[in-house]
Formats: sequence, structure tokens, C-alpha cells
Amino acid sequence: EDEMDERENFLFKILLVGDSAVGKSNLLTRFCKNEFDSDSKSTIGVEFSTKVVHFDDKVIKAQIWDTAGQERYNAITAGYYRGAVGGLVVYDTTNHTTFERAAKWIDEVFENCKQNIFVTLVGNKIDLKDRRQVSVEEGQKLAESKQLAFIETSALDSTNVEECFTDLLKRIY
Ligand code: GTP
Ligand code: MG
Repeated sequence: EDEMDERENFLFKILLVGDSAVGKSNLLTRFCKNEFDSDSKSTIGVEFSTKVVHFDDKVIKAQIWDTAGQERYNAITAGYYRGAVGGLVVYDTTNHTTFERAAKWIDEVFENCKQNIFVTLVGNKIDLKDRRQVSVEEGQKLAESKQLAFIETSALDSTNVEECFTDLLKRIY
């Protein structure tokens, strides 16, 4: 056990932000527990989960913070952002309004995290192909304009969920 503790060299605080119902909590539970809830309730307050990942011979503990999107960028306290080294700004590819608001969420993260923070723009719910309202190109363009990484995911069928978190952790590490 002691040996294990010694190998936990890194603790990274990662933030999830974005409008309500874009799938932040389900991305988190898919990554940390391989679970999905098709009837999940809106997050109340702040929750976090941790997951240990291995890169090379290093052990990295990701502490992923999740809060309610409906609180909007105004209501999230400074404590939520404090010490964060990575952020996932999530929108719903089937809801264009959530994409438009993603730009504000990106600005909010950079305003609150004066320290270096790595951010990925995440377009979620790509399993709902027939309901897509935001093209891949639109997502890429916004990410490029803000100099962020970009990925599309599905928390429902697991597409790119692992990649979304591990790519961010690799960039930080
Ligand atoms: P707040 O906590 O209110 O900010 O919402 P949230 O961003 O945490 O959204 P949540 O994860 O609770 O998901 C909202 C709804 O979208 C739920 O009904 C989920 O089952 C559904 N959902 C989440 N991710 C996906 C996805 O990738 N595909 C599909 N089809 N539905 C999803
Ligand atoms: Mg939530």
C-alpha cells in the first residue's frame, strides 16, 4: 500500500463546464465507472470523482469536478476553478444554443484560471446522428479560434470518452 502511495506522483484537478443537460455528469460516470444514466437528474452543487490512470511508469490521479450547468457561469464560485490544471468545455451536438454558449464558458474558464490550464472543447451526444445541429467543422473552428483541442464524444455509446480525458491528462502531464 505504501508503495502504491509513493507511485501516485500526480494529482490533477480537471473541470467539467458547459450548459445544463449537455452530458457532463454522464461523461464523468462513463469515464470513472463505465456507467450511463439515461434518466439522470441535474447536478446539485459540486461533485467530484477520481480516477487513476497510468502513463509510462507514472500514476496520475485525475480529480474531476462537476457542477450544474444551469447555475451558469455567474454562479460558479472561484473555489470551483481554483487549482484546476485542465478543463473540458462541453456542448450538445444536437442543441446549437449550447454550442453558442460554449464560447462564453471557454472565456469564463480562462478568466478564472489565471494559471496555465489546458482546455478541450467537447461536442457530446454524437450517437444522436439524426438530430445533429452542430457540424464537426463548426466545432473545430471554434476550438482553433481559442487554441483548444477538440473532440466529439458519446457518453451513451462510449465513443471517445476515454480519449477525451486521457488526451487532456497527457497534455497536462
Ligand atoms: P447538469 O447537471 O444539469 O448541468 O447537466 P449535465 O451536463 O450533467 O447532463 P447529464 O449528464 O445529466 O445528461 C443530461 C441528459 O442527456 C440525460 O438524460 C442523459 O442521459 C443524456 N445524455 C448525456 N450524454 C449523452 C449522450 O452522449 N448521448 C445521448 N443520447 N444522451 C446523453
Ligand atoms: Mg450534471
